[in-house]
Amino acid sequence: MQETILKSLLFVPGDSDKKIAKAQGSGASALILDLEDSVLPDNKDAARATVREFLRIHRDRSKQQLWVRINPLTTESALPDLAAIVAGAPDGIMLPKVESARDVVLLDHYLTALEHREGVAHGRVRIIPVVTETPAAMFELKTYKGASARLLGLTWGAEDLSTAIGASTNRLESGEYEFTYQLARSLCLVGAHAAGLQAVETITANFRDQAQLLREVQASRRAGFTGKIAIHPDQIGPINAGFSPDDADVAHAQAVVKAFDDAKGAGTVQLDGKMLDKPHLTQALRLLASAHTLSQ
Ligand code: COA
Ligand code: MG
Repeated sequence: MQETILKSLLFVPGDSDKKIAKAQGSGASALILDLEDSVLPDNKDAARATVREFLRIHRDRSKQQLWVRINPLTTESALPDLAAIVAGAPDGIMLPKVESARDVVLLDHYLTALEHREGVAHGRVRIIPVVTETPAAMFELKTYKGASARLLGLTWGAEDLSTAIGASTNRLESGEYEFTYQLARSLCLVGAHAAGLQAVETITANFRDQAQLLREVQASRRAGFTGKIAIHPDQIGPINAGFSPDDADVAHAQAVVKAFDDAKGAGTVQLDGKMLDKPHLTQALRLLASAHTLSQ
């Protein structure tokens, strides 16, 4: 069965009824109801109750999936989070600050037990771990393949990693990510593809500049990411648009396919003075297939 591609995943603080209500109309492929860093310790219980009730009431997920970011497995909040929300059959769990695929396997086991207790279909709750938030996790990016059938994708984060290594910033003067965070991004990207999973781009904190966001999203798509996390409803439009191939991309892909058709069986051809071989054809066919799926 074809996996659903989550293009846009909108973080919503789990203790904010107002934002949760607003997020529903955002057009995001998925909401990530947050129980971790956007919720203060004193509000965790209230947030669990709010998220649990919201999941219970909103059972039709055909237009928008409902995910929950729980607290890290190393904290005492993680199991109470899971015990509260699995009854609501969330579409998935975003697991922050993982150390390696072992954390995913552990979460898989917890979910299996709780699904059984709550009468939720086995394997229903999927997992997207955040795989670059601790220094140790950076050395484990090849461990995710086959770790759990629940895995849908991998995503990365720059903020907690810089805090963990005592960096005063994760940016160069130019505003670009410093090398360590570019490495984190690339390792997430190739780690996800090595495991046959979706690569989900991290957040853009500046939510006021939509044109910049659209440029970034297009770059993410060209790099091999298939979706991105948002923190504000205004970011959903550019993200959904940016992860859809534009007319120029489609025209180029059609030209590539035509060049191979015209060459009648040749393994390598040229288009506008550039050499093309099998990977280019594969990529063009993949893009046309995704454009076709989107226009259905
Ligand atoms: N989900 C749903 N609604 C949101 C939202 C979100 N993530 N972010 C903002 N909104 C709502 C606001 O409540 C406001 O609603 P209103 O018009 O009914 O008053 C509207 O969108 C405009 O918001 P704006 O005034 O531009 O921003 P803000 O100052 O209210 O909020 C943030 C800014 C950053 C606090 C907010 O975007 C947010 O909470 N983001 C998610 C943070 C998060 O979950 N972080 C954890 C992962 S990094
Ligand atoms: Mg964080």
